[in-house]
Amino acid sequence: MIHLKTRDEVEIMDRANRIVHDVLQRVSAEAVSGVALKELDAVAESMTKAKGGKPAFKGYHGYPASICVSVNDEVVHGIPGERKLKEGDIVSLDFGVILDGYYGDAACTVPVGTVDEGAKKLMDVTRESLLKGIEQVQAGRRVSDVSHAVQTWAEGNGFSVVRDYVGHGIGRALHEEPQVPNFGTPGLGPKLQVGMVLAIEPMINEGGPDVTVDPDGWTVRTRDHKRSAHYEYSVALTADGARVLGVDGR
Ligand code: MF3
Ligand code: CO
Repeated sequence: MIHLKTRDEVEIMDRANRIVHDVLQRVSAEAVSGVALKELDAVAESMTKAKGGKPAFKGYHGYPASICVSVNDEVVHGIPGERKLKEGDIVSLDFGVILDGYYGDAACTVPVGTVDEGAKKLMDVTRESLLKGIEQVQAGRRVSDVSHAVQTWAEGNGFSVVRDYVGHGIGRALHEEPQVPNFGTPGLGPKLQVGMVLAIEPMINEGGPDVTVDPDGWTVRTRDHKRSAHYEYSVALTADGARVLGVDGR
């Protein structure tokens, strides 16, 4: 069942997502050559607590850290440990917060120092594919209109779409209905209505779409070891249209 949110609930979720975006901005700035990933995790955790929120991922199905940090061929769910960032890496940061019983969830991919043109294009196209998806968040459209818009932009630019992980509804739970794939035929799935909140999160690969999971049980990486990028926003459909929570109207 899809839980529609009231305006008051959307405001709480906006505040949760503000913390998420403040943390992502700070961690992005700290993602420089020589930094150990676990240091980024410590920053995310302490900053969230200082702002009155709780990191949402720690302990979720046993996930051991506060933030997911996925480097180069890692797609999502990388565990921040001793590994250090290097000049030229791209690093995907995925972070969630619980505030007053509601979840916020967002992700971005950032360069470490100077990166090659292919990395820049991959990050740009992934972010643009998310924005193309958000353009479809209108009452009366359907979930797969979002999916199709993301896929069309990513594949039209020569990249591939990860199939094994999808976006999701979000609210009092991190993952609610409906699922929001980043690929599909338009015009299918539930109709979008005011009060829906969707976490739209394209994972886009330089090479093929296939992924594997590491022996750690979490780290998802591309089968061909080419690079991957990930962007995510929590988006509310309001009476005035799509609102990117934690970002729009700040
Ligand atoms: N944004 C990711 C998702 O929606 C975050 C989950 S990571 C986990 O699935 F560690 F919490 F599982
Ligand atoms: Co998510």
